[in-house]
Amino acid sequence: MPRTVDLLTPMPRKIRVGIIYGGRSGEHLVSVASAASLVQSLDGAKYDLVPIGISREGRWLVAAEPAQFLESGISMKSLPATESSAQAAGGTALPVPTSGKNVILADVVGDSIDVAIPLVHGTYGEDGTLQGLLEMAGVPYVGAGVLASAVGMDKIVMKKLLTSSGLPVADWLGWRRAEVETEASMRQAVEAVSSRLGFPVFVKPANGGSSVGMTKVKDPEKLPSAIQAALAYDTRVIVEKGIVCREIECSVIGNAQPEVSVPGEITYTSEFYDYETKYTPGKMQLVAPAPLDAETTRLVRQMAADAYRALECEGMARLDLFIEKPSGKILVNEINTIPGFTSTSVFAKLWEATGVPYGALLDKLIGLALDRYRERRDLAGLK
Ligand SMILES: Nc1ncnc2c1ncn2[C@@H]1O[C@H](COP(=O)(O)OP(=O)(O)O)[C@@H](O)[C@H]1O
Ligand SMILES: [Mg+2]
Repeated sequence: MPRTVDLLTPMPRKIRVGIIYGGRSGEHLVSVASAASLVQSLDGAKYDLVPIGISREGRWLVAAEPAQFLESGISMKSLPATESSAQAAGGTALPVPTSGKNVILADVVGDSIDVAIPLVHGTYGEDGTLQGLLEMAGVPYVGAGVLASAVGMDKIVMKKLLTSSGLPVADWLGWRRAEVETEASMRQAVEAVSSRLGFPVFVKPANGGSSVGMTKVKDPEKLPSAIQAALAYDTRVIVEKGIVCREIECSVIGNAQPEVSVPGEITYTSEFYDYETKYTPGKMQLVAPAPLDAETTRLVRQMAADAYRALECEGMARLDLFIEKPSGKILVNEINTIPGFTSTSVFAKLWEATGVPYGALLDKLIGLALDRYRERRDLAGLK
């Protein structure tokens, strides 16, 4: 029989994926690297890419020629250790465009994308604000929703929620800027830390990431300046008891039924897992799977899943845990709802060690975004 060509059934259209990257936080560069890696790995046969850059000043920009723009700027291998060394090196390899159409979200996403991948770390990206904008625009998006994003970004609210779900965290105290403004109130704060937490402590902006604005403080005299330093990044500060620990991380994906990767262990020689250690190649080592006995591995994965649920997370997250030495007690440190996302990131490597390659991970995450969107769209009252 002669073969016929079916001209009537249309070819399935590719899914148009908007990658939103850059942004106004201290983690602008980390975001650019995540986006560059993702763009290189997304299956071109299935997806059309629309890169949407946010400048450091908060301008939304879509390159006039997205394809050309992407091809021109994707050779990033490693991330400069600091903002200043990045600038000295002439910026980054996937720049936020400086020319092109200045857009507002509705213009970008109107009919032009089917799903967004928000890859903006930190404030105005990972904290629910960008997710809220995408909800308003009716665009499906990858990762945690508004609530989990906001909660996951705020170390004080996150710890309260974890504690109320019975999950152990390091002891902490927190203040608003106005509560430690006078010399007397600062002295009281130092006394409270000395008597209730002891030293060393970790001082952090309540909302932050990549260890920016964070100090490890070993004696009381240094505490006020560390609190001020954290308050340069947020209006609230958290001071945590320093835990002598192994650092264990798990990647989690899923909506109602989260799946947890094998745990990995992070090791380094610096004082703690600071910005430089995180982003200078070779300064930290990831061992995946983490060398833990079977029972500890099981408990760690269970705690990662429990924390993910307790924080109402969907899509994806990386859960960071501490195993206290020598007690072996497992504590939740934090959740990262938009973890570093390059193909060599801890998030991706843990999935790789679990048998899920980077490309497949992206497919799964886009599928989860579309599932959640449909489920919410079908709710009564949202027509
Ligand atoms: N309470 C703590 N005890 C021991 N180490 C800590 C503590 N808090 C933070 N650290 C160290 O600082 C790093 C960054 O802290 P984290 O709370 O994860 O902030 P970020 O959101 O910036 O990653 C941790 O990976 C760990 O090395
Ligand atoms: Mg962290």
